[in-house]
Order: sequence, then structure tokens, then C-alpha cells
Amino acid sequence: EVLAALRGLPVLITAGPTREALDPVRCLTNHSSGKMGYALAQALTAAGAEVTLIAGPTALPRPALDQFVAVESALDMYAQVLARVAECAIFIAAAAVADYRPASPLPTKFKKHTADLTLHLTRNPDILADVAARIAPPFTVGFAAETVTTVEELADLATAKRLNKRLNMIAANRVGGDSGGFERDDNALLVLWDGGNHHLPLQSKTQLAAALTILIAERYALSTAS
Ligand code: C5P
Repeated sequence: EVLAALRGLPVLITAGPTREALDPVRCLTNHSSGKMGYALAQALTAAGAEVTLIAGPTALPRPALDQFVAVESALDMYAQVLARVAECAIFIAAAAVADYRPASPLPTKFKKHTADLTLHLTRNPDILADVAARIAPPFTVGFAAETVTTVEELADLATAKRLNKRLNMIAANRVGGDSGGFERDDNALLVLWDGGNHHLPLQSKTQLAAALTILIAERYALSTAS
């Protein structure tokens, strides 16, 4: 049985959005619900993996996991991932990490005055790309949410992302319109790896997580066999 490859394996998963502080009361964030990452944590735990979930702020109940780490910002998430990545066999980046953060968050609440305001933002580290660029990287799984219209465009963008970030596997979905994804309970995924792909049609994120876990187990087992 393919899931046996996951039994006892240390797996690190990121989930949810990040919050980038502007001042003590304001932040930049996004609409990630955290549902996909939480569902994956559950599916991999059910398969016998030793899951650590590192999650940004979500409205979801705290999962029944021994290893759960709550974070706020991308830099927090980065630090918590780096502290644990050396021990993990599989890294799944399901978090919607903010690409930029306010360059200098204010120590006290900002007071309005001018009619316009310009924000200066700084790039955040790419957690997944940095993990995949390690000398001995874990098996890496990324996500790609793209505003494209055709599945061919989605496959091209996701493949480029997989190659650029040097990932073992990427799970791509279309966003915008009514194509599933963010803030929803269901989604469809196109899963791509070196030499293959598999389409997972629209279904609940719980079902998707179970199906994706099987694909991960298969590819992971092959990656360690050679
Ligand atoms: O490049 P893009 O943001 O579309 O890549 C998405 C993938 O990279 C997701 O798996 C996401 O979790 C991960 N990522 C990350 N750190 C970032 C940006 C994205 O781990 N700063």
C-alpha cells in the first residue's frame, strides 16, 4: 500500500495567510483560509506521518496535532520553518505567504494627515524556494494559484514555477471567477512533477488532501528508491 511510505515520516507543512504589520494595529494580509494546509496536515497524520503544521492566522479551530506552531508574519514563518526543516523528509508549502512587507513598521499607531499615503514595501524571503535550494533538501511540494483561463496556461505557469523553485511537485489551481481556491471549501488541482501530472477534479479540500497525499506518497517513495 502506497501510504505506507509515509508512516513515521517527519513532514513540515505551512498553511494560511501571513500578516505583515504596518503599525501595532494595522497589517497587510490576504484571503487565504488555511483550509488546504490544515486538510493536508490531517490527511498526512491519518497516513501515519509525524506532521508539524506552521500556520498564519486563520479562523479554523486549532488542529489536533502534537506539533502546531502559530505564526504571524512571513519572517516568523520563515524562522519557524528553518528551525525544523533539517529534520523533515517532506516539506509542503500551502501557505499564502505575503511577497512583501512594510519596509519599516511603525512602533506606535499611525496618525492620518495627508490626502494620499505611499507605502514602502520590502520583498519577503521565498520560504519554499530557500528550502528547495538547500544542500540536502526534503521532498518539496508547492502550490500555485494563478489567474489564467485555460488549463494549458495553468500547466505552463506551474511548470515554470516548479523548475524555478526546484520543486519535486507543484499543485496548481486557477483563481478568480468561480474557479475555486481561496476562501472556499472545494477546489480542483492540477498536480505536476518531473515527467508526469495528474488532474484532481473539483472536490472538497478534505477529499483533495487525501488524493494529494497519495500522489505525494508515490512520488516520495520513488525519489528515495533511486
Ligand atoms: O511564487 P508563488 O508565491 O506563486 O509561489 C507559491 C508557492 O511558494 C506556495 O507553495 C507558497 O507557499 C510558497 N511561497 C513561500 N514563501 C513565499 C512565497 C511563496 O513559501 N514568500
